[in-house]
Amino acid sequence: MNRPYNFSAGPAAMPEAVLRQAAAEMLDWHGSGMGVMEMSHRGKAFISICEQAEADLRELLAVPPNFRVLFMQGGGLAENAIVPLNLAALKPARAMDFVVTGSWSQKSAKEAEKYGDARVAATGSDGGFTSIPDAQGWQLRANASYVHLCSNETIHGVEFHQLPDLAALGCDAPLVIDFSSQVLSRPVDWSRVGLAFGGAQKNIGPAGVTLVVVREDLIGHALPVCPSAFDYRLVAENHSMYNTPPTYGIYMAGLTFQWLKAQREGDLSGVAAMEARNIAKARLLYDFIDGSQLYVNPVAPDCRSRMNIPFLLRDESRNDAFLAGAQARGLLQLKGHKSVGGMRASLYNAMPLEGVQALVDYMRDFEQHQA
Ligand SMILES: Cc1ncc(COP(=O)(O)O)c(C=O)c1O
Repeated sequence: MNRPYNFSAGPAAMPEAVLRQAAAEMLDWHGSGMGVMEMSHRGKAFISICEQAEADLRELLAVPPNFRVLFMQGGGLAENAIVPLNLAALKPARAMDFVVTGSWSQKSAKEAEKYGDARVAATGSDGGFTSIPDAQGWQLRANASYVHLCSNETIHGVEFHQLPDLAALGCDAPLVIDFSSQVLSRPVDWSRVGLAFGGAQKNIGPAGVTLVVVREDLIGHALPVCPSAFDYRLVAENHSMYNTPPTYGIYMAGLTFQWLKAQREGDLSGVAAMEARNIAKARLLYDFIDGSQLYVNPVAPDCRSRMNIPFLLRDESRNDAFLAGAQARGLLQLKGHKSVGGMRASLYNAMPLEGVQALVDYMRDFEQHQA
């Protein structure tokens, strides 16, 4: 039986092959007599799982050797505190500049206020977060410890298709990106990034693991009040095992990384293959929305997200009927976030093109039926 297509923004659909492999290994991992959940994180078996996961992730994202990969806990929102706790003191003023392009970067800026002089350098709020403010106009401060942005706003569907070159803007601060809903959907230009963080529950694996990729020179500057378990230096020195890591989540992430490495699209493989597929999936849905009379996506074309596509019905009284009909066709979790309403289709790596085609077919039928 085919599984339904799951458009959840997160926790989100996982590749079916990964779920099947995890199910097959649930009671006995590789003849060890133990399931992964039952293993000591200090034992050889789990250490090999964790090391392989890190190696595969490094390969997939071409992480340079001077960056550390940390598997942490607490999700994206905990990182909103953990990043300033570790990086605010990079410069004495503890100044932190935020580019706000939607709900998630707005939350990050608010949380950072507790740990220093957090300020909004630019915001898309006037336009209802439907565009990215021009980088030339960002109010970046010379004494800022870092500049933060969310590379894909999961709720508003706004994505940076190119990360800013802060040096070219006259700013020598490192760039911090929240790539929770963008990670592994496309390559990362590490020359422009000092730190990237993301919760796992969209493109990596089950909720519970938080991925942090951080340049080495940014480690070791934690404020004295930073909890030890959240001090990047201690986490890095202990290879993400300062305390018990989310072992099963790391194992599932590792299976996803292996699945990703095996993906092919023409001559492309891994993340490049996923990017090509993600471009095709997003184009299919945006082109349909733009050509329809019923559906509308308000985001400026140059920053429309490939991963999260919010859309409204021009006749909002039809929302419930739309969702019920979708559910009946095996198209799940399309309800938009409560703060923006309408619908949202999340097209993470595990969503095949066929799923998007099934959604478009349904949307067309629904529109015609309504007319
Ligand atoms: C871009 C982004 N940042 C942060 C978060 C918060 O993550 P968590 O719920 O793991 O704390 C989310 C959650 O959806 C998100 O999409």
